[in-house]
Amino acid sequence: MEAAELRVGFVGAGRMAGGLARGLLRAGKVPASSILASAPSDKNLDAWRESGCRTTHCNLEVLQESTLVILATKPHVLPGVLQEIRPAVGPHHIVVSLVAGVTLQTLQRAGAMVFARGSGAGDEEASLLKNLLSSCGLCEEVPESYINIHTGLSGSGVAYVYLFAEALAEGAVKMGMPGGLASRIAAQTLLGAAKMMLETGEHPAKLRGDVCTPGGTTIHALHQLEKGALRATVMNAVEAATNRARSMAED
Ligand SMILES: NC(=O)c1ccc[n+]([C@@H]2O[C@H](COP(=O)([O-])OP(=O)(O)OC[C@H]3O[C@@H](n4cnc5c(N)ncnc54)[C@H](OP(=O)(O)O)[C@@H]3O)[C@@H](O)[C@H]2O)c1
Repeated sequence: MEAAELRVGFVGAGRMAGGLARGLLRAGKVPASSILASAPSDKNLDAWRESGCRTTHCNLEVLQESTLVILATKPHVLPGVLQEIRPAVGPHHIVVSLVAGVTLQTLQRAGAMVFARGSGAGDEEASLLKNLLSSCGLCEEVPESYINIHTGLSGSGVAYVYLFAEALAEGAVKMGMPGGLASRIAAQTLLGAAKMMLETGEHPAKLRGDVCTPGGTTIHALHQLEKGALRATVMNAVEAATNRARSMAED
């Protein structure tokens, strides 16, 4: 199935759904007229209509009108929604549930998404989804057991990176640089380092070694980070978020 003739439906039209739809539209993957979103109120739907998408208050209509159905309600609403739409789900549907832990910013910008398929989803469906979601950033298919780890690494991980960026900038403020400038330089530094990792494919330890002049400034700074157990602390953070996501999935 070509993405051009694909009709995409969203059940739930909030931040996650909106971010994904904007990514699809911006990449020209699907015309706005082929997107239909449902939500109980018009609170979020107004913005969808402004971008040319179709909207409804009826979840079943989304099932009737769409092939790719993206479930994007809050988790506590989902069981009721599933009960409501289950009778309308047919073999031609590809139903995707957005994974808890992927933030809007992850979807829109530094996109890193993973998905796992259910037993009814074949290669064609997986490659269609990958093609669509890739327009919003990096997208890889993974075994389901990686989904919660992805939450700990990337979904929640953006918050660790913000914390690190804040600390970088505050170090510069402490040494006398204005805060706004320090924040912009910190963000640019993270962006440059992230690009190097993706573009070279090198292990981060190698890239880090490459910028350490013997006896220079960087190795002196890294020694302080090692004394503060930065690596062990970040590993603990990923572990804690993954375990939390696992226990939430069991609730
Ligand atoms: N755990 C995490 O870190 C994390 C982070 C972000 C997102 N997520 C996941 O992403 C999903 C959506 O999050 P979000 O931030 O986009 O939420 P959101 O902005 O609150 O949007 C939820 C949407 O669902 C709609 N809705 C409520 N009840 C519904 C029903 N019965 N039928 C259809 N739609 C209904 C809401 O309608 P109204 O427009 O009328 O309010 C709203 O459009 C959640 O499953 C969440 O777990 C997880």
